[in-house]
Amino acid sequence: MTRRLDSSASGLAAAASILQAGGLVAFGTETVYGLGADATQPEAVARIFAAKNRPRFNPLISHFPTAAAAFAHVVACPLAHALADRFWPGPLTLVLPRAPGSTISDLAADGLATLAVRVPRGDTVAQLLTLAGCPVAAPSANRSGRISPSDATHVLAELDGRIDAVLDTGPCPVGLESTVLDLSTPSAPCLLRPGGVTLEELETICGPIRLPDTQSDAAPLSPGRMLSHYAPHLPVRLNATTIAPDEAVLAFGPQQTPTQSASWNLSESGNLQEAAARLFAGLRALDLEGQHLHLRGIAVQPIPNTGLGMAINDRLNRAAAPRPDSALAPGSTLP
Ligand code: TXA
Ligand code: MG
Repeated sequence: MTRRLDSSASGLAAAASILQAGGLVAFGTETVYGLGADATQPEAVARIFAAKNRPRFNPLISHFPTAAAAFAHVVACPLAHALADRFWPGPLTLVLPRAPGSTISDLAADGLATLAVRVPRGDTVAQLLTLAGCPVAAPSANRSGRISPSDATHVLAELDGRIDAVLDTGPCPVGLESTVLDLSTPSAPCLLRPGGVTLEELETICGPIRLPDTQSDAAPLSPGRMLSHYAPHLPVRLNATTIAPDEAVLAFGPQQTPTQSASWNLSESGNLQEAAARLFAGLRALDLEGQHLHLRGIAVQPIPNTGLGMAINDRLNRAAAPRPDSALAPGSTLP
């Protein structure tokens, strides 16, 4: 049984002691729900991979209550400090060389010479991380390859019975994972994953940022970049300007009266921040309703590729990508 805890003092204390004892606690952040374990305990980190059914190990982000706590585990360059001052707590993950004394387990870091660190935004998560007193490794709290959870009910739909507890902090305000920026070569910052902090915002502090060459650097290092990822069961069709009667529609912007039987508007006013926050919940809802109504797939209307639109389109491209054999077949139900 997975316990559903709230952000009361007793809920937080219970969550922190489960983490200290090597258990698994899912918790809300400003981006998505994370599936947390003490990053210094390899057995605890291994439970994360087992609960998620991850096909192989991946490097995980370690979460901290403050920048000072995060920077104790990495070698932070001046640019990292400048970015932390501007964006932490918030949806930015920095990849930096691992500090020689870091106690983070090799399993959490996947044996790499770098570590991904972040200070999430939110009072409850900050209290949890402070109480736990350890770096908390946390990938998104979903089964491998599936849609990231943006509220506690999504977490339970995927992981009930497989994890010790979920700390319910309500829906996640950003709704998309953090931006992952590789600063291990400070003279050439590289965007490994677009996310809650936009490229334009980062560039005001960093200057021009390199985008990864998918053939080389980021592809093997950053599994968030695996092509099929965030996949609903139904096929996804992008940039749909016309919608067939047997398709569900993920809409964006002001619409005529919808004739569709299954539709979800990411933002009627065309606001990308609102669209990001509603993206994963919309994919989930259309997937369930579309399967129920025997629809052929989900058609997605065009979304501008600026600001947060870049992260939204990145997730949608993965949702629409050809599925690996291991992915659930269309028509099967969520676990
Ligand atoms: O918003 C988020 O970042 C959420 C919440 C829970 O904090 N977490 C999250 O974790 O999305 P996950 O495991 O789903 O994605 C972590 C990303 C992956 O793309 C991973 O490859 C990359 O960070 N990453 C982690 N450590 C890395 C490293 N040392 N070098 C390069 N990429 C790394
Ligand atoms: Mg994930």
